[in-house]
Amino acid sequence: MLSCVCVLLMAASALAHLDQASLDTQWEQWKMTHRKEYNGLDEEGIRRAIWEKNTLMIEAHNQEAALGIHSYELGMNHLGDMTSEEVANKMTGLQVPLDSERSFTMALDEKVSRIPKSIDYRKKRMVTPVKNQGSCGSCWAFSSAGALEGQLAKQTGQLVDLSPQNLVDCVKENDGCGGGYMTNAFKYVQENGGIDSEAAYPYIGEDQACRYNSSGMAAQCRGYKEVPVGDEHALAVALFKVGPVSVGIDATQSSFQFYQRGIYYDRNCNKDDINHAVLAVGYGVNSKGKKYWIVKNSWGEGWGNGGYILMARNRGNLCGIANLASYPIM
Ligand SMILES: *[C@@H]1O[C@H](CO)[C@@H](O)[C@H](O)[C@H]1NC(C)=O
Repeated sequence: MLSCVCVLLMAASALAHLDQASLDTQWEQWKMTHRKEYNGLDEEGIRRAIWEKNTLMIEAHNQEAALGIHSYELGMNHLGDMTSEEVANKMTGLQVPLDSERSFTMALDEKVSRIPKSIDYRKKRMVTPVKNQGSCGSCWAFSSAGALEGQLAKQTGQLVDLSPQNLVDCVKENDGCGGGYMTNAFKYVQENGGIDSEAAYPYIGEDQACRYNSSGMAAQCRGYKEVPVGDEHALAVALFKVGPVSVGIDATQSSFQFYQRGIYYDRNCNKDDINHAVLAVGYGVNSKGKKYWIVKNSWGEGWGNGGYILMARNRGNLCGIANLASYPIM
C-alpha cells in the first residue's frame, strides 16, 4: 500500500509544472496546430476544459508508464478536445451482428501449429497509407477496404487504395456513416461484382446516393470467412495464411483515444462491448517477450503511432480483437 501512495504523490508532483500559464500556452499551440475554431467563448470554454482534463490524464499516465506501471505511453493529438464518449459516438461505427447471423466458416488448418514469430504486412507492401474517417461512423468501411486491399496486393502485386465511400453509400445492409459491419461489405462487393478505387470514388465522409461505376472498379471478392470467436491463435493463423484481417475492438477508453507507443493493455477494455472496426496487419513480440497485434486505425496518421497501435496479444483477448474477425476471399 505504501508504495502505491508513493507513486501517486510522485505523479502529482510531476504534474505541478502544468500551471495555468503553461496550460494557456499549450492550449493556444494545440488550437493552432489542429486549426481549431470555436463558436464563441462558451464553446471554447467547454472544449478547453475537456482538453485540459485530457492533458492532465495523459501526463499522469506517462508518469506512471515511466515507473513501469503501464506498457504504453499516451500523447496529445487532434482528438484532444473530445471526451471518450464523443469519440465513440462520432468516430467508430461498428454494428455488431447477432451471433445467430454469423457463421464461423474459417477452417483452421490442423497442420498450422507453428506460425512465424512475427508478420508485418506493411513490409510486404500489402497495406495502403492510413486514412481518416472523420466524423462519420464508417470504420467498418475502412476496415473492409483495408482487408480487400491486402488481398488485391497479394494477388496482383499492386497496392491500390479502394473506396470506403463506395461501401458507405452502397452497402444496403449497413447504415453508412451510421455504422455497419464488415462481412456485409464483403458480401456487397461479391454481389455487386466489384468495388471502385478510391481515385474513382473519393471519400467525402458523408452519406450520399450510391454512385458505383464499374469503369472505376479495382477489386472483386468471392466471399468471406469469419474467424472462430475469441480464438487468438486462429486470428494469428488467419493473418499468416491470408493477410490483413478485419477485426472489431472496444475503442471506448480514453487510453485508446490518446495511445501513442508501446503495447496497449487497458484492464477497463471490455471484449463484450466491441464498437470499433480496424485492420489487423500483423503481429510480433518485443524485446521483453511481450506479444502484440499490429493494428491499423482510420483516425489519421496523427493518431497513435503514425496511425497504428500495438495491442496486447495472448493476454485474455482483453479488447476483443479476436471476437469479430473476418477476411475476404478474392
Ligand atoms: C461511368 O464512368 C464512365 C467513365 O468515366 C463514364 O463515361 C460514364 O458516364 C459513367 N457512368 C455513370 C452511370 O455515371
